[in-house]
Order: sequence, then C-alpha cells, then structure tokens
Amino acid sequence: MSAQLTGFAYLASSVLFIMALKGLSSPETARQGNRYGIIGMVIAIGTTLADPSVVSFELIIAGLVIGGAAGTIIAKKIEMTALPQLVAAFHSLVGLAAVFVGIGAFYNPEAYGIGTFGAINTGSIIELSLGLAIGAITFSGSIIAFAKLQGLMSGNPITFKFQHMLNAIIAACIVMLVITLVGGQTEGVFWSLAILSFAIGFLIIVPIGGADMPVVVSMLNSYSGWAAAGIGFTLSNPALIITGALVGSSGAILSYIMCKGMNRSIVNVLLGGFGGDTAAAGGASADTGDKNAKAGAAADAAFLMQNASKVIIVPGYGMAVAQAQHALREMCDILKAEGVEVAYAIHPVAGRMPGHMNVLLAEGNVPYDEVFELEEINHEFATADVAYVIGANDTTNPVAKTDPSSPIAGMPILDVEKAGTVLFVKRSLSPGYAGVDNPLFYSDNTLMLYGDAKKMTEEIVQALG
Ligand code: TAP
Repeated sequence: MSAQLTGFAYLASSVLFIMALKGLSSPETARQGNRYGIIGMVIAIGTTLADPSVVSFELIIAGLVIGGAAGTIIAKKIEMTALPQLVAAFHSLVGLAAVFVGIGAFYNPEAYGIGTFGAINTGSIIELSLGLAIGAITFSGSIIAFAKLQGLMSGNPITFKFQHMLNAIIAACIVMLVITLVGGQTEGVFWSLAILSFAIGFLIIVPIGGADMPVVVSMLNSYSGWAAAGIGFTLSNPALIITGALVGSSGAILSYIMCKGMNRSIVNVLLGGFGGDTAAAGGASADTGDKNAKAGAAADAAFLMQNASKVIIVPGYGMAVAQAQHALREMCDILKAEGVEVAYAIHPVAGRMPGHMNVLLAEGNVPYDEVFELEEINHEFATADVAYVIGANDTTNPVAKTDPSSPIAGMPILDVEKAGTVLFVKRSLSPGYAGVDNPLFYSDNTLMLYGDAKKMTEEIVQALG
C-alpha cells in the first residue's frame, strides 16, 4: 500500500469515527453511528495490516481471535447496570497496552524507527515517557475504579493524613523523571517513572467514593484516549493519534457534563469524600422525624393515572436496578389507549451513567418522540395531572433549589412537585445516591408506592386491565 493510500485510508477511518460520535449522540441515530464506527475500525485495522513493516500475521490473528472472542462473550453477558465497571476494565487494558508499547519502544527503538537504545530522538522519548506515564496511571486507576464498582473493595473513600501532599510529591517526581529520561535514557529512570505512575494512579482513585466512580471512569476514559494518542506518536500512526485525541477530548467533555449535571466541580470529585457505600447502595433509612409519608397501592395509582389527561414518567436508577422498562412501556401503552397523554422526562444524570435512561427506554421500545430532556419538559409538570417517579430520587429533590448547604445544591432538578399528584415508586424512604432526604415524600400531593419498580408497575398494569 502506498504512503498516500495509507494516509487516505486513515483519514477516511478518522472521519467515520467522528460520524460515529455524532450518531451516538441520539438514540435514533445510535445504531447508524455504531455502524460508522465499525466500518472505520475495519478500515483502520485493514490499513495497518497492509503496512509492509508487518512481518508476520500469526500473532496478530491469534490476538484478534482471542480478544474478539473474549469481547463478544463479555458484551453479551454483561448487565446494563454493570456497564461502568466493564468500561473501567476495558480502559485498564488500553493503559496497559500503552505501557507495553512504551517498554517495547524503549528497549527496541530501531523497530519503531525512533533511534537506538539509549539514544532515542528527543521528540520520541518525550512522547514515549508521557505515553508510559499516562498509560500506567490509567491502568492502576481503572483497576481501582473497577474493584470499587464491582464491590471487590469498599466503595468508601479511603483517606489518610498528608494524602494530597504525598500525591503532589509523587506528581512532582514524575515530572522530574520525565525530564531526566529525556536527558539520559537509563533503565533505572525508565522503570522508576513506570512504578511511580502506577502508584499515583492507585493513590488518586482510592480517596474517591464509589458513587463518584462514573465520573472517574469517564475521566479515565479521557486518559486512555491520551495514552492511545501517545502510542500513536511513538508508532507514527496518524489514525491512532486522531482516535486517541477523539476519545481523550470526548471523555473530558463527558466528565464536564456529568459534573455540571450534579453541580460539582471536577476538583471536588477528585478530592473525594462524597458518596461512599451508604449513598451508593441507596442509603440508610432517612430520618423521617415526625413527618408522615402517605402510602398507596397499585390500584390507587391505576385509578389516578386512568383518570388523568397527562402523565409524565420520571425514570431513575431504581428503574435500571429493577429492569422495569418493559413493564413501564406496557403501562404507558394502556394509558395511551385510554386517551391519556404520556411523556417521559430524562434528567441529565438520572441513573449511574450518561444516557442510562435513554438506553433502557429504547430497550423497552418506548417511542423516541415521547422522551424529553429536562429543559424541554420541565415547564410541563405544572400542567400534568400525575408525575410517575419510578426509582428516581435526587433528580427530583427540591432541596437542590432551597438549601445552599446541601450536597446537591444548585443541581438542576425535574419539577415533579408541580404536578397534580406525585407517585413515587421505590422500596423505602431511603435517600438516593447523594444521601439527601427528599422532602417531597412527605408532601400533601405525594403518594408513595412502596415496592420493587418492576413488580409495582406490573401490578398497576394488572389493575388497569
Ligand atoms: P437516585 O437518587 O440514586 O435514587 C434512586 C432510587 O431508586 C433510590 O432512592 C432507591 O430507593 C430506588 N431504588 C433502588 N432500587 C430499586 C428497585 N429495585 N425498585 C424501586 N426503586 C429502587 O437516582 P436518580 O434520581 O436516578 O439520580 C441519580 C443520582 O446518581 C444523582 O444524584 C446523580 O448525580 C448520580 N450520578 C449520576 C451519574 C450519571 S452520569 N447518570 C453519574 C454519577 C452519579 P429505595 O432504596 O427506597 O428503593
């Protein structure tokens, strides 16, 4: 393959990756976006394999078969609620790959055309050391994120005295080692850089609470992109540089969107201490004091919704846990058949990952034109007869607007309290992820429907029928 053709093919695959990202921004175009991504990847892999510097295909094919089979099995078996930890596990592999490429390039620079052992070109040794450091941080950080999300270690923030100072000292040492490695390329400096980078990846993630892990995973996603871009420079592969930069910047933008949706700063997330096990698991029982929450049954909910002209559904994390999306769609189909107007309101951080609710509703075959973002639908609660809040909590908590000292202060919320009646489907009065009691549970126009979201919705379907 000529150099021009290779360049053109890599350019085409990069354009397809950008089109894939654009497609993935909406559930309606997500499948098409995925197809663009697959075609782009096939072109990129094919072009790389056609490179004359590939000397044998056996190991490459073995890697493709083993990796492809493992990926297919994992993707088919994974539960939707376990996606954040799967993504963390995958990022750890990208980080490790960057470390291995760094080791390979350091010991055998001739194979990469970047100089000789101990005398690698200045530009290349800078790229290599940055790729090595970011890759090692991504690897150990992602392993901790995976262990916390999977429950293999406590989700509580692990903090100790002088933690931030220790991290600052290690970070300064890493910068010094990169500079030293550029000056004198010794094995000792190279391995010290790798070890300290692994250590800081571990140390910056341990103080972060399990419930903040989705933001961390998105940030590690960004790191893994920059690590891949670093490998791209070492391998002189423009497709890898562009793809790495796309992943790096989109991961950073996603982290920003999540923080904005929670009204937190990235620094506040990274310094840790928010949302440990208790909040992540749904929290201990809220202190209800002398307040009383009214409880209702499925038949009450069915009666209220059957007699409504407009019902707005507000899904949250509990719907995902209960996998209630199919029963929910069935319930809404019955209501629509009876002439009730139904719409779904999606908060930007409902659930535990971006787009969590959209994906589940799409899986439940909810029509896309009934699903609205917060700013599109929030004004409609005032004209709705019923808000059916299914497994959502923080995203509806008015404390965000009224208490500036609350952890969720300033977070935009869905104004469900403006609906005629608010039906809360959840198992108890426990707070949500942020661990903040929701005063709406005790409102005059609220009816609590205690139970599993799927089971309760199925009971309502029966009562409607
Ligand atoms: P949450 O506020 O976490 O509330 C979910 C509620 O679901 C809990 O109060 C729990 O109450 C209930 N629940 C759990 N299992 C259930 C089941 N099987 N059946 C019925 N209910 C069940 O959820 P939300 O309103 O979706 O808010 C999301 C929160 O996660 C926000 O605070 C957000 O900042 C945070 N967060 C989101 C993201 C992204 S990107 N989406 C990332 C990081 C953090 P019971 O235990 O009483 O049932």
